[in-house]
Amino acid sequence: MATVHPSPADLAAAQLAGTPYGTLPPASPLANRKPISLPRLLEMHSRGEKITVMTAYDATFAAVADAAGVECILIGDSLGMVCQGLHSTVGVTLDDMRYHTRSVARGIHRAQGTAWVIADLPFGTYQESKEQALRRASVLTQAGAHMIKLEGGGWTTETVRFLVERGIPVCAHLGLTPQTVHALGGYRVQGKSGASAELLKKQAHELQDAGASMLVLEMVPAELSRELTQELTHCPTIGIGAGNGTAGQVLVLHDLLGVNLGKMPKFVRNFMDDSHSIRGAMEAYVAAVKNGSFPVDATHAW
Ligand code: KIV
Repeated sequence: MATVHPSPADLAAAQLAGTPYGTLPPASPLANRKPISLPRLLEMHSRGEKITVMTAYDATFAAVADAAGVECILIGDSLGMVCQGLHSTVGVTLDDMRYHTRSVARGIHRAQGTAWVIADLPFGTYQESKEQALRRASVLTQAGAHMIKLEGGGWTTETVRFLVERGIPVCAHLGLTPQTVHALGGYRVQGKSGASAELLKKQAHELQDAGASMLVLEMVPAELSRELTQELTHCPTIGIGAGNGTAGQVLVLHDLLGVNLGKMPKFVRNFMDDSHSIRGAMEAYVAAVKNGSFPVDATHAW
């Protein structure tokens, strides 16, 4: 897909015409893309086309991601760590999520507005009851999210069913679930032993049966996530540190762009290394996921 970048003349003309800040000038259209919907994501999965997901937290990065062809933008509660300087995602509030979801949902319309918007329910906003989850999920849906993500398996199954029956698409999240990092004893690979792999598989099937239409697998051995991906026919798996066999991939924006002074997690690739612009790095990420060159099981997985 050839990408057309706006020329300085286009940008100047757009400013004179009063185009809102950061909006792609109509004179420089992107390759025409259809909006992403749930049926389209499932259709991509059944055709074997990899789904690309990336986090974004503000209007400008969301617009650039949309222009770069990223299919799904996740307003992850990782914003607690990358935007707010927290040690974990546990301190992120519903108000924080609402603010960032509104910003992203507005931002994608500066490009083509095609991306599918997923927002995390933060810690403490869905554990009490399924009714609590519905009230909090409604806030994020009204802020512009198309889909809600929540962490965990087992007890979450009924909550997922409750939300889906009421018209809220749900992305589940198994493996390393950062909101329960204290209970897990750290950021460790999950599902390594036979028993924990079996439990993870059982929970994944239950979530699919309850209506989850996407499942993030975080820090799960590549072989296990490959097997699960083949078994879950109508719930595409999205991996992060879960190897190359998943139906799609997700990365945190700051990791993808190498904006991190610390040690990068093993599953990250810095796409700025071979790119000259942020949009170029995002396009390289999309291309690498689609053509299967990222991630590499031997390098980025367990
Ligand atoms: O919060 C987040 O960014 C996430 C992704 C790492 C999947 O949950």
